[in-house]
Amino acid sequence: MIGTGSTSTSAPSIPRPQTPYQGDIARYWDGEARPVNLRLGDVDGLYHHHYGIGDVDHAAVGASDDARHEERLIAELHRLESAQADCLLDHLGPIGRDDTLVDAGCGRGGSMVMAHQRFGCAVEGLTLSAKQADFANSRAEDLGIADHVHARVCNMLHMPFDTGQIAASWNNESSMYVDLNDLFAEHARVLAIGGRYVTITGCWNPRYGQPSKWVSQINAHFECNIHSRREYLRAMADNRLVPQTVIDLTAATLPYWQLRATSSLVTGIEDAFLNSYRDGSFQYLLIAADRI
Ligand SMILES: C[S@@+](CC[C@H](N)C(=O)[O-])C[C@H]1O[C@@H](n2cnc3c(N)ncnc32)[C@H](O)[C@@H]1O
Repeated sequence: MIGTGSTSTSAPSIPRPQTPYQGDIARYWDGEARPVNLRLGDVDGLYHHHYGIGDVDHAAVGASDDARHEERLIAELHRLESAQADCLLDHLGPIGRDDTLVDAGCGRGGSMVMAHQRFGCAVEGLTLSAKQADFANSRAEDLGIADHVHARVCNMLHMPFDTGQIAASWNNESSMYVDLNDLFAEHARVLAIGGRYVTITGCWNPRYGQPSKWVSQINAHFECNIHSRREYLRAMADNRLVPQTVIDLTAATLPYWQLRATSSLVTGIEDAFLNSYRDGSFQYLLIAADRI
């Protein structure tokens, strides 16, 4: 494993972004402190930067005039976001305690903690944001799992792992920041043959034609570049990643967005997601692929 460039006299240095765009993304996530992410994470200490799936438990949310409505709504949104991470982990295949997993684009590390709690294995996270890596590592310290769960500032297109040493890897809503060919070539390099790669991502739907105005709005909001479903499948095929399961989660994520749009934590992007899912221009997809 390659280190992060530490010196003997000072704290580990943070690698410089490899492109100006990566610098933009590092700044974006270093500065990101939206209540919709932090207040949801505060519910149980699992901090996610992704969306939710599954039916809303309206009884748990309660009536809008209930004094605890907002608190209950936040807990429900968080439950749906953790259900999304659980769904991703369900598709990693059999994982042993001695295995190492890679969370590429790990954010504040909620999925990493869940993966370790489920499999007992090591989980390595990569993010462009030093703030996120610090946050994830201090959560792991607090939980007493820092010997197994570790995040670092690193470009996921150049992972600091030897060829074939990783049992499974994933991108949870982080593949829209990179070229897919470069990304999948790197996952294929670090994964063991027979290992599993999983992504959950929004992608534009080739059946619609081209990216809709809603998709363009989402790109501008997050400074990302959403790929099409066709690009995902083609880039996987070109990089020894053979889809084993493809699940369209669009219908499953709509209740989350409908609920979120009613909360005080709205960020202004909710309508773009709702409209693009409804007009068929955007899809929420899980793809699990075997490294052959
Ligand atoms: C929407 S967040 C998703 C975070 C996390 N996967 C989750 O589910 O909570 C996107 C993440 O992708 C990371 N990212 C974007 N481009 C990256 C790159 N080239 N290398 C490593 N991480 C990257 C960002 O730093 C951020 O942590």
